[in-house]
Amino acid sequence: MSDILIRQGRIITASDDYTADILVSGGRIRMIGEAIDVGADTEIHDASGLLVMPGGIDVHTHLEAAVGAANTVDTFETGSMAAAFGGTTTLIDYAKQDKGASPIAGFADWRQRAAGAAIDVAAHMIIVDFNEQTLIDMKSLLADEGITSFKMFMVRPGELLIDDGQLLKILRMTGDNGALSCVHAENGLIIDTLVEEAVAEGHNDPIYHALTRPSSTEGEATHRAIRIAELAEAPLYIVHVSASEALDNITEARDRGVPIFAETCPHYLFLTEAEYDKPGFEPAKYVMSPPLRAQSHQDALWRGLASDDLQVVSTDHCPFCFTEHAHGLKYSKEVGRDSFARIPNGAPGVETRMPLIFSGGVGQGRISLNRFVQLTATGPAKLFGLFPKKGTIAVGSDADLVLFDGQESWTIRAAEHHSRVDYSLFEGREVTGRVKKVFLRGELIVDGQSWLGQKGGGEYLPRGASGSL
Ligand code: URP
Ligand code: ZN
Ligand code: ZN
Repeated sequence: MSDILIRQGRIITASDDYTADILVSGGRIRMIGEAIDVGADTEIHDASGLLVMPGGIDVHTHLEAAVGAANTVDTFETGSMAAAFGGTTTLIDYAKQDKGASPIAGFADWRQRAAGAAIDVAAHMIIVDFNEQTLIDMKSLLADEGITSFKMFMVRPGELLIDDGQLLKILRMTGDNGALSCVHAENGLIIDTLVEEAVAEGHNDPIYHALTRPSSTEGEATHRAIRIAELAEAPLYIVHVSASEALDNITEARDRGVPIFAETCPHYLFLTEAEYDKPGFEPAKYVMSPPLRAQSHQDALWRGLASDDLQVVSTDHCPFCFTEHAHGLKYSKEVGRDSFARIPNGAPGVETRMPLIFSGGVGQGRISLNRFVQLTATGPAKLFGLFPKKGTIAVGSDADLVLFDGQESWTIRAAEHHSRVDYSLFEGREVTGRVKKVFLRGELIVDGQSWLGQKGGGEYLPRGASGSL
């Protein structure tokens, strides 16, 4: 691999903003300087007029994953390629324990699938079946595989739900061992009751997905999870926050100095429940959990990002095609054509996170450029044990770099993206800010619209301690 020089870009980190050259050698940043002299064998990339930012880190994806009766349609190869085109160079994807099996087996299975990734990948482990052996196996994953975060669901009793007592035990273990417990915080028992009632009344339309998951169920579960984490004296991370009630609880706890961290996702920042009023089966595209909310929730989330009550923007990329034509029924929302209760939960987004947040956040004056990098790269790297290898531009860090044109306007179109999914939540939306080149450990993998990366070109990332910023 030849050395490369990225010349005269405007370097943006979570704290800095200056123009300089970056010399990359052996996949890492070797030197940052005003006018670095290099030999003729160094590959030069002119970045004048462009922003140079650390590769994005998306800490919430579900690639090649079984989710209920359906499977997500992006493989590690296609999902990671889509991520790269969107300026993301590291994914932390969800591996999952199967009922009656060890999470160690779940990780082995995930590792095989993840071998196809074209960008670097790490794993969180979803725990769905808890006993004393599970705790022992979680500690093994921590020590042997560098899995330093675990996700527990407070929904879907009998299938995914970890009860409050189990959550307390898991939190104690993660807190004592430098790991971070993550929760999907909605009240699953209440939601299942509301779903049963709606179905019994003959309601099938996708809008009932939202009507049976009111924001108060998210607020209540978030409050409960926080109180359990306080009892366990452990840090806690709330995934995909959508409701202002949840954010209020997070803010209240953080103001008391409790180590609560949280993410939200672009769909909650740009879309509202109005999408569920679309005709026919169209609203199925927006069936994800938690559901889209009213405008007031969206406004609160943007304030939370600015005020540091939310620390991460991830995507929860959990893609199912809208129609079955592209890849078959199993990969499609059509599985739930007859009832909202059977529509696969999840939506795509890995490719559009960075441009959307740049455009709607920096472009609209809601967050600064430095905050943009903090939310999409540095914060995720620090919280999940990847910093300073990932998440910043510094001597010694991996040369995961994005050359970004902050002025270019373009329109999001599913037909032009690289994911296998057949729709975009943001179809037709104009954004300002476009990825021009992406380097993964010094290798140019995206050059304009050209894909230069390769299946299997990503590395598995064992992580250090998680749970502090
Ligand atoms: O609807 C969603 N979010 N699907 C993905 C699984 C999860 O809960 O994160
Ligand atoms: Zn979830
Ligand atoms: Zn998810």
